[in-house]
Amino acid sequence: MKNLKKILALTLAILFVFSLAACGKSNSLTVTEGKLTMATNASFPPYEYYDGDNIVGIDAEIAGLIADKLGLELEIADVEFDSIIPGVQAGKYDMGMAGMTVTDERKEKVNFSDSYAKGVQVVIVKADSAITSIDDLEGKKIGVQQATTGDIYASDDYGEENVTKYANGNLAVEGLKNDKVDCVIIDNEPAKAYVKANEGLKILDTSYADEDYAISFNKDNTELQEKVNAALKELIADGSVAKIVNKYIPAE
Ligand code: ARG
Repeated sequence: MKNLKKILALTLAILFVFSLAACGKSNSLTVTEGKLTMATNASFPPYEYYDGDNIVGIDAEIAGLIADKLGLELEIADVEFDSIIPGVQAGKYDMGMAGMTVTDERKEKVNFSDSYAKGVQVVIVKADSAITSIDDLEGKKIGVQQATTGDIYASDDYGEENVTKYANGNLAVEGLKNDKVDCVIIDNEPAKAYVKANEGLKILDTSYADEDYAISFNKDNTELQEKVNAALKELIADGSVAKIVNKYIPAE
């Protein structure tokens, strides 16, 4: 009888410790186990793309330096672009960094860091296309990456029925090459990389929209947001960010 009581007490004690640990984990949105997990969508050169098995690029390198400053190990998760924000909201990732544009709609869901880069939405067409400026886009078939600002603007301006949404930029460019769409609206630097990697494409001179890229955070994790932002500010001030950008985007 005495032993049984002891066992019971011990079991309860163990259960109590485990439940505490479980609570700690699910409630804490600050980073766990010395890791900084970043969600991205790695088909977006030069910001994030694969070099062999490794994800490299401007975002990956800046995030690496931020993690170093915070004494954390960077872990990158390559996910669909439209699951980055939900994943950050759910606390599945510590931050989202994906050449992501700051918009008012997104600000309702996540907090953003200071901006670390600028983006421009541009139009890619086939080299011999009849489309010569954005004034020619009315009624044309437009390819975009699902849930990006290119998608949002094109759907608003030219109608959802004219917009084909691809899972990533590479697939949108494949669609253009195979004449499934007449053009692709996407960020300027990835556009340059796609045009370089594929024969017979060009970028129209007239650009579509100017944007700011920033890192996104769970609204409840302002502690991490402040730490990352402070590290980012230092890296911008000491020229580290510019150095990374210049490495991937050589001045013309
Ligand atoms: N700047 C655009 C946006 O925020 C496109 C970003 C796409 N990024 C990516 N890693 N696939 O909507």
